Amino acid sequence: MRRPFVAGNWKMNLDLATGRALVSELRTRLPASPPIDVAICPPHIYLFPMAKAVADTPIRLGAQNCFHESSGAFTGEVSAAMVKETGCTYVILGHSERRHTIGPKDASGRVQGETDAMIAAKCRAAMSAGLVPIVCVGETLEERDRDQTEAVLSRQIDGSLAGIALDGPEKLVIAYEPVWAIGTGRNATPEQAQAAHRHLRGRLAERFGRGMADGIRIQYGGSVKPDNAITLMKEADVDGALVGGASLKASDFAGIIEGCIRAKGL
Ligand code: 13P
Repeated sequence: MRRPFVAGNWKMNLDLATGRALVSELRTRLPASPPIDVAICPPHIYLFPMAKAVADTPIRLGAQNCFHESSGAFTGEVSAAMVKETGCTYVILGHSERRHTIGPKDASGRVQGETDAMIAAKCRAAMSAGLVPIVCVGETLEERDRDQTEAVLSRQIDGSLAGIALDGPEKLVIAYEPVWAIGTGRNATPEQAQAAHRHLRGRLAERFGRGMADGIRIQYGGSVKPDNAITLMKEADVDGALVGGASLKASDFAGIIEGCIRAKGL
């Protein structure tokens, strides 16, 4: 069975003091050894202090990005090995905000964010450095309305994992985050999430073989809250959650973790 995994993506929120306070409250709310994996993903600048804060807890650490080159004249970038050195286990790659929100705009006002090829290069660098990438995929509302969801997910999986050789299913995590559900309060229905996750697992099976695909965790992300976590996590191919807003509040994040544990009957 796949071990469920709930991660909190802090995005560009909190500061050092509030981040520390959040971790110390989580410490009191989480079981000493939960039957699922739990991680927080703070901004790069807080990785070292947060590594210290979570040191004797079951909480693991993830970064929100890394660069694909290993060293050199790349002002402002952070390599996968540097991320690893802070104590990170995971790194989120290809988040929809990096694909669609952050970056220069083209003539029609569309953001030129990260491409699948850029994400694949980061993914290869992360794996070489011993990090487990959490590769995010997800369709926009326009793409869903045009019935292109599966085609978009297939393209993103193929493109974002180009050139990746996988020697164990635990070395890769996928996050399905429909763009229209992120930060909108409008989560995918459990049926929509299950259909997308099943499709993604099928694509992973074509790519890496059925045995490997059956072991890869696929998280759902997009307006996950304590009150919708159970029904989403009950779906067979939903192996946990990548949580944004609700991961900033200890009671909500702990509620989602508890919901996941209950939904999976652990
Ligand atoms: P919200 O949970 O705030 O919708 O964000 C989801 C997300 O983007 C996690 O990476």
